[in-house]
Amino acid sequence: MQLDKNEFGDDFYWGISSSAFQTEGTFPYDGRGDSIWDQFSQKKGNIKKGHTAEQATLFYKYFRQDIGFIKWMNLRNFRFSISWPRVIPNGTGKWNQQGIDFYDRLIDECLENGISPWVTLYHWDLPHALEEKGGWTNRDVVNYFQDYLELCMQKYADRVDRWMVLNEPTAFTALGYFLGIHAPGKKGKSNFLPSIHHAALAQAEGGRLIRSHDSNLKVGTTFSFSHVEAHRNRQKDVNASNKVDAILNRLYLEPLLGMGYPIDELPFLEGLASYVQNGDMQKLSFDMDFIGVQNYSREVVAHSYFTPIVNAKLVPPKKRGKPRTAMNWEIYPESIYHVLNRLNTYDNIPPLVITENGAAFEDKLQSNGRVEDEQRIDFLREHIGSVKKAIKDGIKVDGYFVWSLTDNFEWAEGYRPRFGLIYVDYEKLSRIPKKSAFWYRDFLSDN
Ligand code: FCB
Repeated sequence: MQLDKNEFGDDFYWGISSSAFQTEGTFPYDGRGDSIWDQFSQKKGNIKKGHTAEQATLFYKYFRQDIGFIKWMNLRNFRFSISWPRVIPNGTGKWNQQGIDFYDRLIDECLENGISPWVTLYHWDLPHALEEKGGWTNRDVVNYFQDYLELCMQKYADRVDRWMVLNEPTAFTALGYFLGIHAPGKKGKSNFLPSIHHAALAQAEGGRLIRSHDSNLKVGTTFSFSHVEAHRNRQKDVNASNKVDAILNRLYLEPLLGMGYPIDELPFLEGLASYVQNGDMQKLSFDMDFIGVQNYSREVVAHSYFTPIVNAKLVPPKKRGKPRTAMNWEIYPESIYHVLNRLNTYDNIPPLVITENGAAFEDKLQSNGRVEDEQRIDFLREHIGSVKKAIKDGIKVDGYFVWSLTDNFEWAEGYRPRFGLIYVDYEKLSRIPKKSAFWYRDFLSDN
């Protein structure tokens, strides 16, 4: 497919994304507090091969070099996150000047290079001290989060005008507080339900706080969305896929849009009543300036008696004979098109920005110093093509950000999956642009 960036318009935001915990590294500590991910990674069996993010890509030290790559790729937008425990080590109370200074340097470096910072306020690294008080299951977290946001506004909103409140609430509550496979490793409905309500409250209250700080700021939040299909055309599979769809695509979006929780498909959400206080249902909605759409694949769902809540299982692409990435996620570029169309069916949906899309492959650094990641180039080209198709249909999409700038710490999967356009040699911490980085640069060049 021929792609021309001019078809997206001059004001389309081309960018690239990363997050604090996956890249910064934790030494020198410089006053930073532990996050739930530091603690979770210490426990044997939680992260593949026992990897930890102590070093990561040491973005904390090498951020200038990495921003140099962003500029070199002709990108003008960089999405990164602030680490809450780096700026407020205990999650509440005293702030850490060295942490504040780091994000000052980072933001200034972006601006000096003509790059707009797009800042995520919560990309999963909750201060461990707050987890000791119950983490997202404790309603107080909503207030602590507000205080943290207020500090970020005071320190950075003079220079940063694009903010994202949360990164993928479904992922961090379902994986971290229901299945226990992400930090903090809690399980079961009794943890999941309160964490859902508090994250949904934090999402809308966070939006309000940012807007009240300065109504010129652009405030959004991000969601992981996947196109969901039934494996077979039989009622049981269709029912199962509707439930999975409600968890993956509706759980946090619909309360934000003023529609309440998707209890129609998920009766267990009636249990939320124990955590909902007077006036809360109104507080869940907020008119964001944009919605961050993060899409990687589709999910094909079959009925299963053995899974709690949804009675559903995901049918892996290998079983269906479909191509997949190093994460075992199906390569299915139409998914992003379907997701955008579906979002467009909501009456009051804000403008959409693709804040993450990308793929991990088995990238090899060759002896000639190159990384020839042709598969990633195909992946990006086809997905950007799907976005273009949605725009042609009249859907308002304002930007597209690749995940990710560099290879990094992929949560419970450790360092094996490489998502970067820039390869990282973890021994030397050197950076090598992959062929896909050259491709993105050429695609965005004016010549
Ligand atoms: C998303 C996360 C991001 C990264 C990609 C691969 O769900 O937001 O941090 O791990 O997946």
